[in-house]
Amino acid sequence: MKLIVVENYGEMSRIAADMISKRMLEKPDMTLGLATGGTPTGMYQELIAGASKKNISFKQITTVNLDEYVGLEATHPNSYRFYMNDRFFQHIDIDLENTFVPNGAAADLAQECHWYDETIKQLGGIDLQVLGIGTNGHIGFNEPGTPFDKTTHVVELTESTRKANERFFSEGKVPTHAITMGIKTIMQSKEIVLLSSGEKKADALQQLVEGSITNLFPASVLKLHNNLTIVADQASIKKL
Ligand code: GLP
Repeated sequence: MKLIVVENYGEMSRIAADMISKRMLEKPDMTLGLATGGTPTGMYQELIAGASKKNISFKQITTVNLDEYVGLEATHPNSYRFYMNDRFFQHIDIDLENTFVPNGAAADLAQECHWYDETIKQLGGIDLQVLGIGTNGHIGFNEPGTPFDKTTHVVELTESTRKANERFFSEGKVPTHAITMGIKTIMQSKEIVLLSSGEKKADALQQLVEGSITNLFPASVLKLHNNLTIVADQASIKKL
């Protein structure tokens, strides 16, 4: 595990975007695993700015997102598909057909989960997966107690996660369920970059770095990965 400590959110975003751009230059047709939430929005802005400044193309890139709310159509303003199109995809030259987000409105959710895993397999796995971290240690939407051997599946969200995500909801309530890439799927990524910013993540970061590996704190499994980089700002590491 490599820990890169940065000054603030802006620096975290720039470093994360640089890491991705570097990998894209090495492998222009890479599969990039993406996350939503507040943490990666600055990284998306940096990638958009970098793409136009440095002429970086996403034409051959495929993306797979970690998760999606059950019951929200792609057009719902709080769906993660909407978030990705709105904040990233529509500002770069990526082919939307090469962007994958689980379909939370699928009629058969089990089939959707299976199809999602098959898609990742057919892509040859994820080259670099970006992660945020929930205050309870969740990654994607893998809540505490999720077995480490889970592939993509449907989860019931905890009250604390629903509360934490309320701030994004302009319409209606935070759904009770979500589809998430499983921990096994995430761990099969060739490289993982976990981003952390702000004081509210300080306890989670401390537990991640200093605590033991347990599915009661899902992110702890990442310590078993052989290519994990944590990019964390000063505020989020203040308890280390
Ligand atoms: C959400 C997402 C996660 C994200 C986490 C942290 O529930 N499903 O992928 O990493 O919460 O969110 P934030 O970056 O807004 O703190």
